Amino acid sequence: MIENGHVIDVREGFEKFGETDLFFDLSRGVALPGFIDIHTHVRGLELSYKEDERSGTMAAAKGGFTMIIDMPNTRPRVDNIDVLKNKLKAFERNSFTEYGIWIALPKEEREAIEMMRFSKVYGLKIYPEDYERLEKYDREVLRKIPRIMIHAEDPENISESCEKGYRWRCRPIDAEIKALERIHRVLGSRDGVNITHVTNLYTAYVAKKLGYSTDTCPHYLLLDSDDERRLGCVAKVNPPLRTKYMREHLLENLVSSESLIDMMSTDHAPHTFEEKNRDFSECPSGISSIEFVSSLMLDLVNKNVLSLERLISLFSIGPAKFLGLDLYGCVKPGCRANYTIIDLDKETVVRSSQMISKSKNTPYENMRLKGSVYATVVRGVPVYLNDLFTDPRDYEVAL
Ligand code: DOR
Ligand code: ZN
Repeated sequence: MIENGHVIDVREGFEKFGETDLFFDLSRGVALPGFIDIHTHVRGLELSYKEDERSGTMAAAKGGFTMIIDMPNTRPRVDNIDVLKNKLKAFERNSFTEYGIWIALPKEEREAIEMMRFSKVYGLKIYPEDYERLEKYDREVLRKIPRIMIHAEDPENISESCEKGYRWRCRPIDAEIKALERIHRVLGSRDGVNITHVTNLYTAYVAKKLGYSTDTCPHYLLLDSDDERRLGCVAKVNPPLRTKYMREHLLENLVSSESLIDMMSTDHAPHTFEEKNRDFSECPSGISSIEFVSSLMLDLVNKNVLSLERLISLFSIGPAKFLGLDLYGCVKPGCRANYTIIDLDKETVVRSSQMISKSKNTPYENMRLKGSVYATVVRGVPVYLNDLFTDPRDYEVAL
């Protein structure tokens, strides 16, 4: 039973699954604590032609995500209060899921502190192009920022001259390690620093050694440089896909409960069909995937590669803990009534033509996957149910 978007009773219609408090059997599927994506590019503002707060969060809801945290590399960047207010307004009016925002490094250090005070702002995102400025930034200000997401690639050790299938040579693992060393010289070892979209185990190992948390994305587990050679632009992403050997080792480590990887994120990075059809050297990097990610992972569950418990830890419990959200990543009374309801038996075929995202291209085209999202419940409202969407504003639910 749900009241005001919270679970108040778990008896009616729900049943405890096994000995855990994690998920319940429903008549049409299994309700998991709502998936949270800590790394989504919803775009919006002047990039709304690629994706916006409505299309991006609808795609997220279809993918089983009950909450997403949006990236600030928009046009204009979310590095000042005016842009932040515009983004928040757009989310408030259009979002189908709960949401949060990472800010980009503000020019004014005072503004960084002010932006942190907005609810929904979870922290700062650092891109390779920010490293130089970060090194000169006031350390006291950085200490006050609770969470910092790092794109770890040292700009001085990467280039764009490699052919498709070989981008891993131009943007090598060494550039990720050098980036970590640079970041560590500025931030030291501290809580709340997360190395996002880790592509390989070496980077994960060094990140953990330095006291940072880690996340990886499905494309680093399921695609490699052979796919980049075969598919071209739709598999072009930064940091790049690694070799098959690297990919297999990352996957093997991820599925273990002793893994060096704490969380998963989608890095849903939408670009238009036209942009992704340019010549390989010209097309923008980024993989649009949020609506398929849960099916891709559930397929691994069905193949006995990944356990459901580990999946919940990677997409619900880990992210909730990182974001400091005590009422999330759980389904006990008192928890937020956010559920990812899955049907482990339902098969789907990935078709870009059926995508909700404005970015109708995917490296997973035609893949047949077993295990799907049946419904996505946000604060008690089934915002996505069996291919139909419900606008949470119809129920006056504040996200
Ligand atoms: O491939 C990428 N695409 N990597 C990034 O860091 C940015 C992202 C985007 O915004 O498209
Ligand atoms: Zn990203």
